[in-house]
Amino acid sequence: IESLKDRDFVTLKDFTKQEIASLLELAAKLKQQKKQGLPHQPLQGKTLGMVFEKSSTRTRVSFEAGIYQLGGVGLFLNTQDIQLGRGETIADTAKILSSYLDAIMIRTFNQSTVEQLAKHASIPVINGLTDLYHPCQVLADLLTMKEHKGNLEGLTLTYLGDGNNMAHSLMIGSAKMGMNVHIASPEEYKPLPEITIQAEQIAKENDGSIMITQDVEKAVQNSDIIYTDVWTSMGQEDEQAKRTEIFQTYRVNEELLKQAKPDAIFMHCLPAHRGEEVTTGVIDGNQSVVFEEAENRLHAQKALMVALMGNSFPQ
Ligand code: CP
Ligand code: NVA
Repeated sequence: IESLKDRDFVTLKDFTKQEIASLLELAAKLKQQKKQGLPHQPLQGKTLGMVFEKSSTRTRVSFEAGIYQLGGVGLFLNTQDIQLGRGETIADTAKILSSYLDAIMIRTFNQSTVEQLAKHASIPVINGLTDLYHPCQVLADLLTMKEHKGNLEGLTLTYLGDGNNMAHSLMIGSAKMGMNVHIASPEEYKPLPEITIQAEQIAKENDGSIMITQDVEKAVQNSDIIYTDVWTSMGQEDEQAKRTEIFQTYRVNEELLKQAKPDAIFMHCLPAHRGEEVTTGVIDGNQSVVFEEAENRLHAQKALMVALMGNSFPQ
């Protein structure tokens, strides 16, 4: 495959199945090197800017620790502290940051902010979550699924709850890898139609499939992976009461998990609200892989940074 150097990572749509597969392979290799205490510092002297307009534990810490482990350094840039928060344009910010840094990771509300930044920056821009997508999470999720299930092709992933950024990126990423994706959401909280159409097209090209339903029981049958996310995402706090009511029947509990395959794994991007979208019994039970999944953010994003910022991937 072509080198991924200098590419932006704005949505998984822009990457082929082979490119994603090679990122997962590199992630597994870097994970092993880390576990064995072997040196892996291909990004010596490189600097990653990390722009945050929303809260974060995993994304912030895994990117900062990851770039450091690779020999580089990360700069945490809260949008409230930089001039972007006082109205400096995205275009100007992109040009300035490009003259100092080697890549920019950004977590923000609008997908168009990431796209604008990518358009005006001469260095790679990585999407660290928007209202529409969370591709870094899905890269780590695919790595986790691979570790537990081997081949991704033909696996069935069922996502329950809000048709949000996670649902969108899971549909795209999993369909790319030839998986079957079931989304069970209330009618008003389905994934966006235009993204569903794109995911269906991607599924068709890669022998995957997409099913959108309101029927939770139907969705979980034969699933290898049960996935959920919070009912109220960052920025939607005003709608919390309404959402809590509407999503009640979409909670992942022990009963529901039993209807998936006996060896199904439970996943959640975290942070979780125990007792809301998932019961304590499920998230802290023996089918849950949420902490490995969170750890894999580190390894997957290290692979991504090496691929976009390094000089020798793939060889
Ligand atoms: N899953 C995830 O992105 O977590 P943070 O919001 O803590 O970064
Ligand atoms: N859907 C959640 C994911 C958090 C990682 C949110 O956007 O807040």
